[in-house]
Amino acid sequence: MSILTPEWSAGLYLVAAACFILALRGLSSPRTARRGNLIGAAGALVALVAVFLSARFENVPWIIGTIVVGSAIAAPVSRRVKMTQMPQLVALFNGVGGGAAALVALLELSHVDSPWSGLAIAFTVLVGAVSFSGSCVTFAKLQELMPTRPITFPGQPIVMGLLLVGAIAAGWFVVTEPSLLVVGILLALGLVIGVLFVLPVGGADVPIVISLLNAFTGLTVAASGLVLGNVLLLVAGTLVGASGTILTRAMAAAMGRSVTGIIFGAFRGGSTAGSTAVSDRPVRSSSAEDVAILLGYAQRVIVVPGYGLAVAQAQHTMAELATALEAKGIEVVFGIHPVAGRMPGHMNVLLAEANVPYEKLQEMDEVNPQFKTADVVLVVGANDVVNPAAKTSKGSPIYGMPILDVSDARQVVFLKRSMRPGFAGIENELLYEPQTTLLFGDAKESLTRILTAVKGL
Ligand code: TAP
Repeated sequence: MSILTPEWSAGLYLVAAACFILALRGLSSPRTARRGNLIGAAGALVALVAVFLSARFENVPWIIGTIVVGSAIAAPVSRRVKMTQMPQLVALFNGVGGGAAALVALLELSHVDSPWSGLAIAFTVLVGAVSFSGSCVTFAKLQELMPTRPITFPGQPIVMGLLLVGAIAAGWFVVTEPSLLVVGILLALGLVIGVLFVLPVGGADVPIVISLLNAFTGLTVAASGLVLGNVLLLVAGTLVGASGTILTRAMAAAMGRSVTGIIFGAFRGGSTAGSTAVSDRPVRSSSAEDVAILLGYAQRVIVVPGYGLAVAQAQHTMAELATALEAKGIEVVFGIHPVAGRMPGHMNVLLAEANVPYEKLQEMDEVNPQFKTADVVLVVGANDVVNPAAKTSKGSPIYGMPILDVSDARQVVFLKRSMRPGFAGIENELLYEPQTTLLFGDAKESLTRILTAVKGL
């Protein structure tokens, strides 16, 4: 006997689904993202309560126990994770979602009553297992528990092909003669396929694969909605699948890459993982005081933030410096590259946290024509997103990626700690150009020193 009538459950499911759609709408802009997140969380809570009260009242201590254990692990992990580690966290949570859907489908095997339900189970188990093991490997790569470069071995495409054929055969048996053995084989094949799917992906492509696996998890959850006859899972899974696919395509486009190029790039020698060799050619370096004078005499400054700003947690100091320059009548805008940092919207989130007004953040297409007329461009912990090799060097792994045209500017100041390259592992010729000055050091420390000097001008 359940507490909620089917009509009440359906009504609450509708409320939850509406929350999820409104959440996605909110997440489409930095201005509304926080509200969107809260609406999504509220929708998840409504869904959780609705499912709990709609089910027969059995195994209640077990259900409450798992909710408590899950929350006790997830809440502190989410609170403690650094902004720069967010992609890993997303990978892990996403993988757990796919794995959970696969396990639920496995347990539903005894309820197979038509070829369609068998097909839904086979799909959920296979894709859920791929998503789980693939996400674990992406987590290990991003956390540097294993090499981030693409890992390939001779005959890998053939092994992958054989595994896929085996998975299709096992899936056929799940539909026609379901048994725990064939579902177990399908699960094992899915786990191995997930690992082999992600191993050849390396360098800058790993976060894109997380988004792709996220889309897989969405499809798995939608299929598990069919298995369990649960409309809410179907709706939520479809939303995740569709938004994950759109995000994957958008991230790939922002890097000038195709999704197939990302997955099969290593086999064709086109992965974005470059070398980390450092050249010893001379560069022009400067002191914080000199940079302050350069900025103090400018009329228009464009700041280009990148991953280093996030690592140094320098967003507040950066915002303070922008305010100090504006107080001296200098115009300051921020040029935001869509893949600066390590996740979509990374720079927007950081700068919003430091209360930089949204109208000061200009997207790539808007800011690019302005570099020619800027007096100084201050590049704070960015590298790949301003690397002219993306335009000029045909053989470069980032060739074709749209970049911020910082090289058009009269004066460029880079704040970085060393001559090490960025995420893609490619040298940046702009560092050696005559208009470029480097201020070596942690971005927060350098900005603090520049700020002090600017205030004293
Ligand atoms: P990167 O090219 O990775 O460059 C970061 C720079 O920050 C490096 O030059 C590094 O040099 C410097 N740095 C690191 N820590 C610092 C600190 N504490 N203080 C000062 N500087 C510091 O970053 P980017 O230009 O933002 O480009 C992003 C890269 O990530 C691209 O390759 C992009 O394709 C990839 N990616 C992004 C996304 C999304 S969606 N954002 C997803 C996948 C991949 P030092 O070590 O010398 O300091």
